[in-house]
Amino acid sequence: AEINLEQKFQEKIDNELRIEPKDWMPEKYRQTLIRQISQHAHSEIIGMLPEGNWITRAPSLRRKAVLLAKVQDEAGHGLYLYSAAETLGISRDKMYSQLHSGEAKYSSIFNYPTITWADMGAIGWLVDGAAIMNQVPLCRASYGPYSRAMVRVCKEESFHQRQGYEIMLTLSKGSSVQKKMAQDALNRWWWPSIMMFGPTDDASPNSIQSMKWKIKRFSNDELRQKFVDVTVEQAKILGLTIPDKDLKWNEERGHYDFGEINWDEFWNVVKGNGPCNKERLETRKKAWEEGEWVREAAQAHAEKRKAKKEA
Ligand code: ACO
Repeated sequence: AEINLEQKFQEKIDNELRIEPKDWMPEKYRQTLIRQISQHAHSEIIGMLPEGNWITRAPSLRRKAVLLAKVQDEAGHGLYLYSAAETLGISRDKMYSQLHSGEAKYSSIFNYPTITWADMGAIGWLVDGAAIMNQVPLCRASYGPYSRAMVRVCKEESFHQRQGYEIMLTLSKGSSVQKKMAQDALNRWWWPSIMMFGPTDDASPNSIQSMKWKIKRFSNDELRQKFVDVTVEQAKILGLTIPDKDLKWNEERGHYDFGEINWDEFWNVVKGNGPCNKERLETRKKAWEEGEWVREAAQAHAEKRKAKKEA
C-alpha cells in the first residue's frame, strides 16, 4: 500500500500538481521540506542583523526609511516561512530552539561583517540578487504553502535588489572615495555571494532527490552560473571590477567561466567558524531573551480577551 501511495504521490508531482499539508507524503519529503524551509526562515531572521547594523547610520533620512522597510520585510519573510514549515508538523518553538542552540543551519552569507555603507549596496545587489535567482524557481516548488509564500517573498526581494543596485550606482558615480568604497564592498561580497548557492552539484547530497520531488527546479551550479552571467553585465554598468581574474566569456558554452571557489572557506563558515557566526547567534539569542516579557504580555492579553468573549 505504501508503494502505491508513493507512486501516486510522484505522479502528482510529475503532473505539476501541488502537495498540500493534509495530503499523504513520504516521511523523507516532509523532513526535507522542514529542513529546507526552516533553514530558509532562519536565514531571513539572521539576515536582518548585518543590515540592521546600519539603520542608525544610514547617510540620509530617505536611505534610512528604505533600509528600515527592507529589514522589516526580512522579518516578514521569516514569519511566512516559519508558518509554512509549521504546516508540516514542526512547532515554531522547536525551530527557534534549533536555531538558538546552533544545531540548525542558516545561510553562510550572513556570517560576514558589514563594515561600510557600501555593504548595504553590495548586499542588496549581490546577496538579494542571488536570493532571487534561487527563489523564483521555488515559487513553483511542489509543496503548496512553500511555493505560495515564495511569490510575495520574491516580489519584495526584487525591490531589495533594486535598492541595493541603486546605492551602488550612486556610489560608483560619486567621488573617488565613494567609488573606492563600492569597489571594496564588491571585492568582499562577491565570493561569499556565489557560495550562497551551495556546494557544486557533485558535492550536493540533497539535490538529486529534491529535484525529483520538484522542490528544487535547478541545480546549485545552474543557478550560480545564471547569477554570474547576469551580474557581470550589471557590474559593467557600474564600472566596477569583479574580483576574479579567471572570469571570461566562453563563446562555446554561451556563459562566463569563473575561477575556483574556496570551498574550505565555505564549509568553515557553514560549520560555525566564519567571521561573525558567534556574534550573530549571540545577538539573536539576546533579542529572544529580552523579548520574553513582550511574548508573555501578548499571551496574557490574548487569554484575557478569550475569557471575556466566553463570559
Ligand atoms: N549556507 C549554509 N548552508 C548551506 C548553504 C549555504 N549557502 N548551501 C548549502 N548548505 C548546506 C545545506 O543546507 C546542506 O546541509 P544539510 O543537509 O545539513 O541541511 C548541505 O549544505 C549540502 O547542500 P545541498 O545538498 O546542496 O542542500 P540543498 O539541496 O538544501 O540546497 C540550498 C541548498 C540551495 C540553499 C537550498 O536549501 C535552498 O534553495 N534553500 C532555500 C533558499 C534559502 O534558504 N535561502 C537562504 C539565503 S537567501 C535569504 O534568506 C535572503
